[in-house]
Amino acid sequence: MRSIDIHDHVKGRSIYLDDIPLIQGTLFARVFTSNVAHGRIIKLDISKARDLEGVHKVLISSDITGINQIGGIIDDEPLMAENIVDFIGMPIALVLADSESIARKACKLIDCKIEAFEEITDPRIAYEKGALIIPSKKFILGDTESTWSSCSHIFEGKADINGQEHLYIETQGAYAQPVEGGKIKVYSSTQGPTAVQRAVAKVTGMEMHSIEVDVTRIGGGFGGKEDQANAWAALCALGTHITGRPVKYSLSREEDIYMTGKRHPYSADFKIGFDNKLKILAYEVTFFQNAGAAADLSPAVLERTLFHCTNAYFIPNVIAIAHCCKTNLPPNTAFRGFGGPQGMFVIECAIAIAAPKLNCKASDIQKANLITTGDVFPYGQLAESEAETSWQQFEDRFDLKKMQQDVDQFNKENIHLKKGLAVQPICFGISFTKTLMNQARSLVHIYTDGSVGITTGAVEMGQGVNTKIAQVAAHIFSLPIDKIRIYSTNTTRIANTSPSAASATADLNGKATLMACEAIKERLKKVVISIADTKEQNSDIEIRDGLVFLDSLETKITWQELISKAFEQRVSLSEHAHYATPDVHFDWSKGKGHPFSYHVYGTSVTQVTVDCIRGNYEIDFVKVVHDYGQSMNPMIDLGQIEGGIVQGIGWMTCEDVFYDEKGKLRSNALSTYKIPDIYAAPKEIDIIPLITDKENLAILQSKAVGEPPLMYGLGTYFAIENAIQSFNPTVPRRMNAPYTPEKVLLALYGSKDL
Ligand code: MTE
Ligand code: HPA
Ligand code: MOS
Repeated sequence: MRSIDIHDHVKGRSIYLDDIPLIQGTLFARVFTSNVAHGRIIKLDISKARDLEGVHKVLISSDITGINQIGGIIDDEPLMAENIVDFIGMPIALVLADSESIARKACKLIDCKIEAFEEITDPRIAYEKGALIIPSKKFILGDTESTWSSCSHIFEGKADINGQEHLYIETQGAYAQPVEGGKIKVYSSTQGPTAVQRAVAKVTGMEMHSIEVDVTRIGGGFGGKEDQANAWAALCALGTHITGRPVKYSLSREEDIYMTGKRHPYSADFKIGFDNKLKILAYEVTFFQNAGAAADLSPAVLERTLFHCTNAYFIPNVIAIAHCCKTNLPPNTAFRGFGGPQGMFVIECAIAIAAPKLNCKASDIQKANLITTGDVFPYGQLAESEAETSWQQFEDRFDLKKMQQDVDQFNKENIHLKKGLAVQPICFGISFTKTLMNQARSLVHIYTDGSVGITTGAVEMGQGVNTKIAQVAAHIFSLPIDKIRIYSTNTTRIANTSPSAASATADLNGKATLMACEAIKERLKKVVISIADTKEQNSDIEIRDGLVFLDSLETKITWQELISKAFEQRVSLSEHAHYATPDVHFDWSKGKGHPFSYHVYGTSVTQVTVDCIRGNYEIDFVKVVHDYGQSMNPMIDLGQIEGGIVQGIGWMTCEDVFYDEKGKLRSNALSTYKIPDIYAAPKEIDIIPLITDKENLAILQSKAVGEPPLMYGLGTYFAIENAIQSFNPTVPRRMNAPYTPEKVLLALYGSKDL
């Protein structure tokens, strides 16, 4: 089944923030920001800006009516700087004007002097100086210390991995409108309507019930709007609260790129020990996370790095330590994978370094260490593993040996073109790692004409969650999909939502919808029984082609008649259901628990061809066996997998976030920040479903698919590295993603300037 949004998307009829019709009197907002990464404001004169014709107001931190605080996990992030600035792009003043261009002009008239302090941009330096956002976190399994002596081979190394710009197509933005009684309605491009509501309430000083947040859909979020949509909504709402006028702020691409946080860059040290049969006996890893200037979601991202630090492998002895390092960059934030991919990259680096020294391929090590059902993850959860099944099916479908032989042959025959191959198993835990977030609600109405309207806490961001929720209702009521409408996500209809994130949106909101539909169906059953004149109370009803069947027998009652009858009998046709993922828990004091409702697995192989004269490369193919459970929508899931792979490839290859030593973003436009285009995409993507039917907590057994496929992109890094090695085996293996063409060229010729 196609996405229910497809027609309107193609015709340009879908509504995004910027498509909401303007109401009269709307003011346009723009922020004036710090151009210094760390310092003290010694002069702030807004008078020229305020006096510009068409400027309605210029607000600064002291105008905030509530509290100047938007931190989600820790209260460490002012909405507007008071006297200290912590990063370039930090808001200092808010201009409200009659047009965007006047607001822009006014920002240029603000006179601000900042006394610069020393800035930190490197997480290891932050660590040395004790600049940590939270106390460091640690997972321990077994005993590494006593294991090293029994290892036949031990390797140590360092790995670096850069950030990533979200580059959602729709930039950040919000539109606040005054409503009766001084209350506010906010349209926001957010993954987290409740997070926005909470931030707006805090900043304006209003109660949450006075703030209504509405999201029809967003043009991509990828984690960048899980928490970082809050600032713009809070600024607009503050403007509305103070002026009584509607306030809109839709960021330009330029503003969005330099003001918002990105995927976290990490630096890591590792030590890995093997027996003489390629089994990993011990692994120690220390992560230095570049969190930026405030906590944002960094502590939670840091935790997921630890959760995924052994990827799809069982390692009996592990110590993993993670430091959340405070630097003077915009606060980094959630990005597809939420720290997991960084953790996985480092263990893959350790394996890649070890393989040639153990005279084998990385894939031999990977295969020898796959986690099996019953093995324990370092955080105490027992695996229900599909790692080996996916690898097995992968070997059955794709002839890895032959692929490797072809690559070796090609490399023998070619001097300046070299191919590289890399296998990439993945394992990703589904559920918010913060247990309380694993809850959702759904409100289902059946109207008297038999049509159905549903609101959940899910935000549609292109991932197809609305289609999946409609499918759930269609499935329970046996109705055609066009009888079901999914409404905007709105905090007055569904309260206290978790953000649409952690790949769990369809599971959580779909399960709540399933419960609501089943409750209504149960009541309808009684109505059918009352009119069908049967005494049987355990009957099952089903609707086929608009007719009601009772215990598989046609009743001649139409769906429409049933609904009318139910209404006549004063039976409720509405239901609000609450779902909380069962059995998830985690105890941070022990570092143990059962944080995930299940894991998603898969295995991919990537082949690249590197042009060893120019340093550029092409991706020949990515072939995958992916664990779908039983996909309820293979077309949507395929889209998620293909999109995830290309986004992961971009992160590993051409996308290079670059802040200079002063904390200024130099890769601040699409001319200096290269994202994958059609030429950078693999020439072939082949995705084979691994259909598994284990009882799990996925919606209709259809496993979460949003984030995991991004991690197949990791294989690209190692495929390029392998191609470089076959051109020049004397080059030390370097672990510093992304592998931009420039870096590849330097590596090919053994440059030390990397
Ligand atoms: N797909 C599209 N088209 N747009 C997005 O913004 N976000 C990703 C993923 N796929 C995203 C996407 C991220 S980061 C997550 S967590 C999941 O979708 C969220 O949606 P889900 O929970 O419904 O999978
Ligand atoms: N994943 C994504 N987003 C989150 C999580 C998580 O585990 N925890 C809090 N926000
Ligand atoms: Mo996704 S990073 O959990 O929004």
